[in-house]
Amino acid sequence: MARINENYLKLKAGYLFPEISRRVRLFLEANPQAASNVIRCGIGDVTEPLPQAAIQAMKAATDELGERSSFRGYGPEQGYDFLRLAIAQHEYRERGLQISDDEVFVSDGSKCDTANILDIFGSDNRIAISDPVYPVYVDTNVMAGHTGQALEGGGYEGLLYLPCTPENGFIAAAPAEKVDIAYLCFPNNPTGAVASKAQLKAWVDYARANGTILFFDAAYVDYISDPALPRSIYEIEGARECAIEFRSFSKNGGFTGVRCAYTVVPAGLAGTTRGGEKVLLHPLWLRRSTTKFNGVSYPVQRAAQALYSAQGKAQVRALVDYYMGNAKILREAAREAGLKVWGGEHAPYIWIGCPAGLSSWDVFDKMLGEASVVITPGAGFGSNGEGFFRVSAFNSRQNAEEVAKRLKSMKWS
Ligand code: MLT
Repeated sequence: MARINENYLKLKAGYLFPEISRRVRLFLEANPQAASNVIRCGIGDVTEPLPQAAIQAMKAATDELGERSSFRGYGPEQGYDFLRLAIAQHEYRERGLQISDDEVFVSDGSKCDTANILDIFGSDNRIAISDPVYPVYVDTNVMAGHTGQALEGGGYEGLLYLPCTPENGFIAAAPAEKVDIAYLCFPNNPTGAVASKAQLKAWVDYARANGTILFFDAAYVDYISDPALPRSIYEIEGARECAIEFRSFSKNGGFTGVRCAYTVVPAGLAGTTRGGEKVLLHPLWLRRSTTKFNGVSYPVQRAAQALYSAQGKAQVRALVDYYMGNAKILREAAREAGLKVWGGEHAPYIWIGCPAGLSSWDVFDKMLGEASVVITPGAGFGSNGEGFFRVSAFNSRQNAEEVAKRLKSMKWS
């Protein structure tokens, strides 16, 4: 009989968001009358229609595929040149960052990229992960056999967890010990925290001194509202020698269903063999992409390119501003309800302290049972997420206002 990958048996509950959906489904089975009243602020999934620039580009590209003269089959696995150029130009070179077109790899999502990147790394690396954290970083390392068993108090043997708490502003400093890989996510999911240039510089300095590779997830970069805050790890001198950056069109262009993202692997970035020989990562990632991936569809890449037109940029800005308007409404409502609130200023997530005596799953049940609002319990992001819950600002304005009203009318103490 075929043997399974037993690492999967180490995984604790189901993946967080399907688990939340399962619990909501059970609630609705028991309370069918609540169905039309439920508002979902759990998973960070966009709700507003796609920017017109993307729609038009996608339609035109589909028409091209309908004509023999302009038909295209397989595209380049790492992305069409037109999109790699648009990304490198608008996201980096226009901002003074030297990223060449061929350092950009177009993909179908940052979740997949942050998971797939593990393919090109060995299985005996020491890995640092913030806690709380986007659960994909942890679960994919468990699946790949990079951890031991689940621990009693949460987490997995073998990973180095860096606590993110109100005391450190939910931004972990580099550890005292040496790690080979560290995951950073700014603006942060789930806490909404954003690292300053000085904080990122400390990480880059640490990485260069220790031969660490930083996985920098910047999927929410367009939510940064203060121009003094760094948008890219490559704004920090030396980061090309130690960092891979992940970006996505999901949360700025509303592409969660359309699927398009990219990963930047600088040409000179290297890891080592067991024997200590330096090996460049760019050719390994190219090899992995060309072997295991057939690229993002042509209409989708044209749609992503259109987000960089003048019209597209304005529409993306309007979309981000819309969700940030929701974030403001939700943040203020939680404050008025007497809750402690973080995030929601440079990120579409509001991170809220649970009232004394309630765990984060208690708050999940309370919000669902008393207000028909779905939130994400902080415990789902790691043991340091216990005591907090996350409210997503991805919603219609009407729903955000309704959630604000319900939050304020609930009895919290
Ligand atoms: C979240 O809610 O944390 C995100 O939607 C997850 C994701 O982007 O995959």
